[in-house]
Amino acid sequence: MELVLNSPLDMHLHLRDADMLKIVAPLSSYSFAGGIIMPNLVSPITSIETLVEYKQRVKDAIGDDNFEPLMTLFFKSDYTYDFLKEAKKYISAIKLYPFGITTNSKDGVSSMKIEDLRQTFEAMSELNIPLLVHGETNGFVMDREKEFGSVYEQFATSFPKLKIIMEHITTKHSVDLLDKYENLYATITLHHLLITLDDVAGGALNPHLFCKPIAKRPEDREALLSVALLVHPKVMFGSDSAPHPMSKKESCGCAAGVFTAPIALQALATLFEKHGVLENLQAFVSDNAKRIYNFTPIKKKVVLEKKLFTTPVLYKNIVPMFAGSELPWSIKNVR
Ligand code: NCD
Ligand code: ZN
Repeated sequence: MELVLNSPLDMHLHLRDADMLKIVAPLSSYSFAGGIIMPNLVSPITSIETLVEYKQRVKDAIGDDNFEPLMTLFFKSDYTYDFLKEAKKYISAIKLYPFGITTNSKDGVSSMKIEDLRQTFEAMSELNIPLLVHGETNGFVMDREKEFGSVYEQFATSFPKLKIIMEHITTKHSVDLLDKYENLYATITLHHLLITLDDVAGGALNPHLFCKPIAKRPEDREALLSVALLVHPKVMFGSDSAPHPMSKKESCGCAAGVFTAPIALQALATLFEKHGVLENLQAFVSDNAKRIYNFTPIKKKVVLEKKLFTTPVLYKNIVPMFAGSELPWSIKNVR
């Protein structure tokens, strides 16, 4: 049995920089036609110059693969209209991180008050630049995303023309927001469709499944599955593949992030087949993103086949999700 995916897209991807970039970029560029590249480098991407340089390093790491890096800027509340007008030529979106909420977010914003964000939001709204949000407060870890819901509602109602993408949603509450506000959209990761907090910390602690936002309750995962498998028109796949060296994961003070890029399509095919909706995967991994972002991706056909794939235990020094396990689907070829 085969499955052909046309131009699969990863709408939330961390490629990092330097040696790590060289390891992970080819693993995404092999099987995806494009991806939204996150700007949370150690020094976040906040200027056109650093963005253009980073894009070139991404392209160098990808080599000859047919893959379009869709670049993003790290949100700042004092971006001017003129700056963003110029930046728009180079970016697909801007990513907002609350201060200190996740990896490399110490330059994130510390106030979610509309008045403090208005300058940048207004310009983005006028210039039609999508706003991507890491939606968590600094409250109790299981409630952070739900608490952020009121912030999403304020953003959505105050800037009705601004396209707001709730990144890596993990709760039923966020799923429900999709139908409440026309300008709210969402990405959903592979791991949040598969795991709950039990898999992270219910038995022996699994640092490789520790990420922000933390995986939630079974009913939250059910809500995510319901919109992903039936492909709600406002959701799209974003792996949030977030590699860290094994030494940073298997250690005290474990870094947050699950590395899924090389196994994402194989695992998604497994999941969609298990639920009898394999035909819906195309919309989840590409068609919805094309429509939501209003762009035409590079043409690429990724052929998967029903053949066991043994996930490598390591990609250099990075442990992937499903390390050492078998998946029933593998990638046959890419053209
Ligand atoms: C991401 C990272 O490592 O950059 N980590 C994570 O747990 N998801 C950042 C993020 O998207 O929150
Ligand atoms: Zn992320």
